[in-house]
Amino acid sequence: MKHTRQLAIILILAFLISLVPCASFASGTKLCALTFDDGPGPYTERLLDTLAEKGVKATFFVLGQQAERYPDTIKRIYEEGHQLANHTWGHVNLVKYSEGGVVAQLQRTADTLDRITGVKGEYLMRPPYGSYNDSVLEVIGVPAILWSVDPYDWKYRDAQTDHDNVLESVFDGCIILLHDIHEASVDAVPSIIDDLKAEGYELVTVNELFRRKNHALEPGKVYRKSEGETVYSSEAPISRGELVFELYKICGSPKLSRAKPTVNFSDIDSYHNAHAVRWAALNALVKGYPGGIFRPDRSITREDFAVIYCRFARYLGKKTEVTADLTVYQDYADVSAYARAPFSHMIAAGLLRSDGSGMLHPKSFIGYTEAVSLLLSLKQ
Ligand code: NI
Repeated sequence: MKHTRQLAIILILAFLISLVPCASFASGTKLCALTFDDGPGPYTERLLDTLAEKGVKATFFVLGQQAERYPDTIKRIYEEGHQLANHTWGHVNLVKYSEGGVVAQLQRTADTLDRITGVKGEYLMRPPYGSYNDSVLEVIGVPAILWSVDPYDWKYRDAQTDHDNVLESVFDGCIILLHDIHEASVDAVPSIIDDLKAEGYELVTVNELFRRKNHALEPGKVYRKSEGETVYSSEAPISRGELVFELYKICGSPKLSRAKPTVNFSDIDSYHNAHAVRWAALNALVKGYPGGIFRPDRSITREDFAVIYCRFARYLGKKTEVTADLTVYQDYADVSAYARAPFSHMIAAGLLRSDGSGMLHPKSFIGYTEAVSLLLSLKQ
């Protein structure tokens, strides 16, 4: 009898252990998106200081009329890597507008943002008051992003209440709604960030939330959260498009001169960072593939990163002459001929390393964080 009970307990334990999900490709990171509506306003700059200090990227659903009032803040939001999104021109209830009126509310805002940032952007939209109907969705032409965590900050105007309400209802994949036009909401952000991080959340932009959950956003559809496993961690490979965007930001997001000839690829016209790709190609930092395509979503290998890194170093006026003897590494022959010199430089300079068993892994992908920190070190 006693043994039967022990056996039963062991079987139950084994069953419970089998329920723990295995750490396969999923990183296990919990993600959520902080979003700020109705700004920019007088407190937005302070909010940006907080986000910079905490290393968090957020999404700003801005009003066109506020953008016009605070162009420098819009520029800063964009340049500091946050996501700009559209909350109409004048905070109108879209269901009361004609189709033409809905389009005009969104277009005028998008045009204003484009003009201020100097970049043609693709902006997700959020209908004011969360108010929409089928005819609104039919004409917006972009995904409509609502929210899943609403602390009613516009009502309570109390930082502690805002914080507690967010922490109470947060979950993996949620979208948190706050308003940067209220001082108390901006006051609440440091403790919200600290406590979410303490609970294992990573705070990302809306685009990043859906990208990392492998959840496609479609125009004219409504989203309140992102479902599914977190597929990409920050150690996930960096893509060609992402790498180029980092180079572009490191260089201060330069404007492309309209007078100069531009480089184009047939597969980047609808890519959100197309301007960065054109800029990098124009400056010979990246090349396309045969057939005039760029493949922005393709992951970067270690050897391709070495090539681009060295080009970028020279672009910044740095030397990349120091080289190592690669033939001492077992998989030396795997390094492509075009990448040998730059790869050798990266090894010699200690920027890339071989693994413990003397392998270079030139065809392995390089992670986002590693790639960006190497690029940033070039600026010093
Ligand atoms: Ni609003």
